[in-house]
Amino acid sequence: MKKLVFPLLLWSFLLQTQAQNKLPPLDHAALQFKLAFKAIDQAKTKNGNLVSPRSLREDTLFMVPSRDWTSGFFSGNLWYMYELSGDQFWQQKAREFTANLEREKTNGTTHDMGFKMYCSYGNGYRLTNDASYRNILIESARTLCTRFHPKIGSLRSWDHSKDKWDFPVIIDNMMNLELLFWAFKQTQDSLFYKVAVSHANTTMQNHFRPDYSSYHVVGYDVNSGKAIQKNTHQGYSHESAWARGQSWGLYAYTMCYRETGKKEYLQLAENIAQFILNHPNLPKDLVPYWDFNAPSIPNAPRDASAAALMAAAFYELSTLVPAKAKFYQQKADKILHNLTKNYRTAPNTHAGFLLTQSTGHLPGKHEINVPIVYADYYYLEALLRKKNLRKN
Ligand code: GLY
Repeated sequence: MKKLVFPLLLWSFLLQTQAQNKLPPLDHAALQFKLAFKAIDQAKTKNGNLVSPRSLREDTLFMVPSRDWTSGFFSGNLWYMYELSGDQFWQQKAREFTANLEREKTNGTTHDMGFKMYCSYGNGYRLTNDASYRNILIESARTLCTRFHPKIGSLRSWDHSKDKWDFPVIIDNMMNLELLFWAFKQTQDSLFYKVAVSHANTTMQNHFRPDYSSYHVVGYDVNSGKAIQKNTHQGYSHESAWARGQSWGLYAYTMCYRETGKKEYLQLAENIAQFILNHPNLPKDLVPYWDFNAPSIPNAPRDASAAALMAAAFYELSTLVPAKAKFYQQKADKILHNLTKNYRTAPNTHAGFLLTQSTGHLPGKHEINVPIVYADYYYLEALLRKKNLRKN
């Protein structure tokens, strides 16, 4: 009899694990975020300034203060959980984590205002109409506009690395424009719209190569307003196509078309999509390597965050280009399916993150092939966009 006990226990354990791995995405996320709350509480007992989980570093939860560019994604995840489930529990948790970010509304030292405030307060306002969120968002948008340089026509990205660039603008910065378009619609103050459109136009002019891949960093001369450097920071080389940079561009120009109706933005978004989808180094599962030109391909780390962004963008493109709706939807479905099947964390592991295999900053030697919070955010957003498409 004793001889049978161990194999039976093993069998039931394997069956349970298999069943857990097949959890519907929302159930998996709910389980994971409840684990995350415990891990976060533990981390906060050591340092009360840490407000949000960012990634795993050396298998340990890496938390950030509100000033970090990623601080808004976790509360964004919780808002998406509320939207996907309708369960008030998630609204209450989302409110808790969102409240920790308010002080950022006057932080003019960063271009990351949209990432921090629109993913958190922006989703919160959209779902609750809470007037205090609206005020915080408008103040955040005003603060972001202080980084606009009229001669250059762009918002300044970093204040650091002054030894390398006088006025650096990174492709990621395009994502922050959504906050400005929102602020324009709320206030009718045309400053927000003008700044956003000017930044998008300047980036369109200087960041893209003839094949529609993009540079990560463009350095401008503040006197002439001209682009004088075209570089990378997180990619393999100045002339390579850093995967997440291509996804930021795809997602952001799709959003800019939604907000302005300007055909040139749609054209650019579609050209970026073609660059990505036709690239010989794009793996069959559509989850890119961290850089399309990484020399160690096919052994290079992937970037699941770039794939999650692509999925969210393709769902939106499918609603904006009726003639190609099916094409873009199928691409998004494929990415989402593959992320869920092969890149998801096992339940109750990885400190509560949802996806594995993102790459944050390979040249900087950190966050390589690990879970990162913004991959989870755009994965949930893609799930939501898929659900809404079905509804409609
Ligand atoms: N915005 C920084 C990054 O994409 O890693």
